[in-house]
Amino acid sequence: MDSNEVMIKIESLTKSFGRIKALDNLNLEIKRGELLGIIGPNGAGKTTAIRMACCILKPDFGDIIINGYSIHYDPIKIKSMIGYLPEEPNLYERFKAKDLLKYFAELYGVPNKDIDGRIDELLELVGMTERRDDRINTFSKGLRQRISVARALIHDPDIIILDEPTMGLDPATANSIRTFIMKMKGKKTMILCTHYMEEADSLCDRVAILNKGRIIDVGTPRYLKSKIHGDVILKVKIQKSVDLVNFQKKIMQFSSVGAVDFVDGEFLISLKHRNEISDIVDLFNNEIISINTKEPTLEDVFINTVR
Ligand SMILES: Nc1ncnc2c1ncn2[C@@H]1O[C@H](COP(=O)(O)OP(=O)(O)OP(=O)(O)O)[C@@H](O)[C@H]1O
Ligand SMILES: [Mg+2]
Repeated sequence: MDSNEVMIKIESLTKSFGRIKALDNLNLEIKRGELLGIIGPNGAGKTTAIRMACCILKPDFGDIIINGYSIHYDPIKIKSMIGYLPEEPNLYERFKAKDLLKYFAELYGVPNKDIDGRIDELLELVGMTERRDDRINTFSKGLRQRISVARALIHDPDIIILDEPTMGLDPATANSIRTFIMKMKGKKTMILCTHYMEEADSLCDRVAILNKGRIIDVGTPRYLKSKIHGDVILKVKIQKSVDLVNFQKKIMQFSSVGAVDFVDGEFLISLKHRNEISDIVDLFNNEIISINTKEPTLEDVFINTVR
């Protein structure tokens, strides 16, 4: 498998709904076997972009080329390659769980001999084995979500696109979905939309930050985190009496210091490396109440970038 091969190429993707520009000239490439996260505030255009990749919605302009096929000319081929978990799954209410999966397995051409095994495996994955004979219309929100995840994966697709897969799931089930995603890493090409920053951070090879229909940054979680804050944040709580301006000036003289903030009686000092930490701490002398370090999180990135 050529890991540099582009599997999904989004080109100049543009879409308006009336006066709302949902996507504004979006360009992005996803490599074969890569797991790309998409984060961004409500209404950023994440679901709109994904629905286009799944050939459910057409762009006003632009194209998505998936494994060499265009969403404009080859939607049937593309749909067969993708396992898609929609944001709001629409299930056939009167079906029993196992029959729903069987229906989709047949629809996607899963060989007959494999169907039962595949259904068992997926029901197990989403913790629904005991509910296999119950009808969808008797399921709670989270149970529907679990069955929808199983449905998306039934044909063992090469590309998996998940729009907020763990939303509304209890922590144990959410974890089993994350473990599944982790296991598929490198084997499948995946897009994961999520509002859970830790999920994006721990699972994704790269994360794209979308805002107002545009990509404002994209890179590995590590790159995104280092870009805003450097390697580490030093938190120093100090006595009320100190001369803040004077301290701030002194701190800024260290070459490792990227930025300094003062919030709630505490200096937040972003450092590019840890080499000068003890010298910086010495500056404060007897004024220190407490001292901590904090690794920057993807949540910090989100809040800083989107703001
Ligand atoms: N069918 C539609 N008709 C009108 N406006 C739409 C439609 N679909 C999406 N929009 C608008 O397009 C913008 C992008 O919506 P989209 O659903 O892609 O956002 P999102 O990033 O997935 O947000 P969320 O995090 O809330 O799921 C929003 O302003 C939304 O209201
Ligand atoms: Mg959405």
